[in-house]
Amino acid sequence: MTERTTERRKILVTSALPYANGSIHLGHLVEYIQTDIWTRFQKMRGHECYYVCADDAHGTAIMLKAEQLGITPEELIAQVKAEHEADFGDFLIEFDNYHSTHTDENREMSSLIYNRLRDNNHIASREITQAFDPEKNLFLADRYIKGTCPKCKTDDQYGDNCEACGATYAPTDLINPKSAISGATPIEKASTHYFFKLPEFSDFLKKWTRAGHVQDEVANKLGEWLDSGLHEWDISRDAPYFGFEIPDAPGKYFYVWLDAPIGYMASFKNLCEKKGLVFDDFWKQGSDTELYHFIGKDIVNFHALFWPAMLTSANFRTPTKVCVHGFLTVNGKKMSKSRGTFINARSYLDNLNPEYLRYYFAAKLSSGVDDLDLNLDDFIQRVNSDLVGKVVNIASRCAKFITKGNDGVLSNTIADEALWQQVAEASDSIADHYENREFGKAVREIMALADAANEYIAAKEPWKLSKEPGREQEVLDICSLGINLFRALMVYLKPILPAMANDAEAFLNDTLSWDGELHPLKDHQINKFKPLMQRVEQDKVDAMLEASKEALAAAVEQPASGAPASSPLSDEPLADEINFDDFIKVDLRVALITKAQHVEGADKLLQLTLDIGGETRNVFSGIKSSYRPEDLEGRLTVLVANLAPRKMRFGLSEGMVLAAGDKQGIYLLSPDSGAEPGQRVS
Ligand code: MSP
Ligand code: ZN
Repeated sequence: MTERTTERRKILVTSALPYANGSIHLGHLVEYIQTDIWTRFQKMRGHECYYVCADDAHGTAIMLKAEQLGITPEELIAQVKAEHEADFGDFLIEFDNYHSTHTDENREMSSLIYNRLRDNNHIASREITQAFDPEKNLFLADRYIKGTCPKCKTDDQYGDNCEACGATYAPTDLINPKSAISGATPIEKASTHYFFKLPEFSDFLKKWTRAGHVQDEVANKLGEWLDSGLHEWDISRDAPYFGFEIPDAPGKYFYVWLDAPIGYMASFKNLCEKKGLVFDDFWKQGSDTELYHFIGKDIVNFHALFWPAMLTSANFRTPTKVCVHGFLTVNGKKMSKSRGTFINARSYLDNLNPEYLRYYFAAKLSSGVDDLDLNLDDFIQRVNSDLVGKVVNIASRCAKFITKGNDGVLSNTIADEALWQQVAEASDSIADHYENREFGKAVREIMALADAANEYIAAKEPWKLSKEPGREQEVLDICSLGINLFRALMVYLKPILPAMANDAEAFLNDTLSWDGELHPLKDHQINKFKPLMQRVEQDKVDAMLEASKEALAAAVEQPASGAPASSPLSDEPLADEINFDDFIKVDLRVALITKAQHVEGADKLLQLTLDIGGETRNVFSGIKSSYRPEDLEGRLTVLVANLAPRKMRFGLSEGMVLAAGDKQGIYLLSPDSGAEPGQRVS
């Protein structure tokens, strides 16, 4: 599809709603950065475009997490929302509205849609039998049941598949099943559930998924599901549940995935109220506005099957496109907490400029669903060579000859008309790449133009000419063209680099707009040049990885009763069973804390000096939230004495002290009095 520039399009854009029980990490940011670039592009092109999102605030995981923290779900989702919004803001993600699914708008909209589905006879109800935790009085989803694998007999496996042998089974097949929440043995219990009659939409969905609303590779995957037959979708959950009660079914709640996509509408409705927009213009059946959902490949069934079917039944329009992206890997592997590559948005922001990542992701993004790798060496090299070495370099080499040579006024001629045309005429092609979400192609084309501009300047050598008397005008013309080329490149890069573009605007004394043909600035006053971007420093990247490991050291593992985290990547696999020989390899020693002190620049660590019977060890420990250094001195604890020393940002850590804990507190382990420093613990 080529971009339609002639008419002013009306476009509503969404990103998937992040769960309100965890922090934003770099994997999420693939999506929010991709969507933000696309909407900024549409706005620059003069279209009426709105980008809305919200926190996904309902479900069992959030309910249990709040309980574990000793706060109400409402308090938890308020805290997390504030954190998410700060992270997004600092990554320059510019939502027109950021809402929550736990709002009046969403409650009303969800009821409305449910009532319409029911009135259209698309809701069924029947009794089903499920595992139930008799201690917590809670029905247990498969992932909340653990037990021994019926096939390979490995302990501690989740309810539907075995991590050891890969077998899949029903939770009822587990040997010795236990509730992962309370440890109780689940019982079977019947209750009434409500279902959305998805199979009635099979024919509609077979057509819809082949009508250009999803990428071909996604349509093929959906085709497999459609061919193997759709099932009715269970949309209710029994109390206790954090969510919306179903209007005509007291004690039953909408399953979180029922009201989550409706959250897109609710957020937009909230925006309409704030801005006086007309909700129906965007959502009524047959609307000629455009609706785009950006999502990751793990949630395609919800967006490309359930959602269009629900919308159709409820007499709303369906999405123009569901744009699916792949998953982020770091250095070629799944993000990992122990490697320090499970990087939270905040750990990145504490060390690096957000625009580096925006640029790097853009350079690697395509319209496909392939996974995308953040290779940190390549990241440093790419950002430095492209942005600092190519783009900023054009301006920094040319600016001084205009400031000094002509009081900052650009020449009124174009020194090389063909070169200017080459750069200006790339506008349509670059715009098409943005429109088609081929950001990598856009970036390659922009960088090829940057190369052309640098070659031109290098060949003309204005710094030499400026020393030859009588050639001032020539120098001014060359450098003015250089500045104009830089300006065109910054127009093209503005959706990706909004802050740098903003600084470039101050330097150029001009607004970078892209709503038509590009014309060069002539006889135009510019301002003093200030460096527009610093190089990425290796030690900052190292510090970010270190901080991610530190966050892990301090992270308090969820207790056995904790809900598994909702994202497949945020969950570290459980440790494998070990035998006694393995255990005895761990050399545990009684240690005396002789000194404890704060660590400059570390939020979570204390530095401990330990005596283990004649030998002194230096250990950094993530216990600052629960202990004052002065209270620790003179105390005994237990040290893992043969742990390989680890180089941290603050120094070498020689071992690890043992502590129990959860978010409410950390409890250092101590032997009973009488134990001697250096004694072996086993
Ligand atoms: N709450 C649901 C979405 C509801 S939308 C009506 C959810 N939340 S999530 O927090 O787990 O994920 C939010 C988005 O981030 C999803 O589109 C998901 O695919 C994406 N990503 C989460 N981890 C990711 C990576 N590691 N890499 C790329 N995208 C990832 O799903
Ligand atoms: Zn098994």
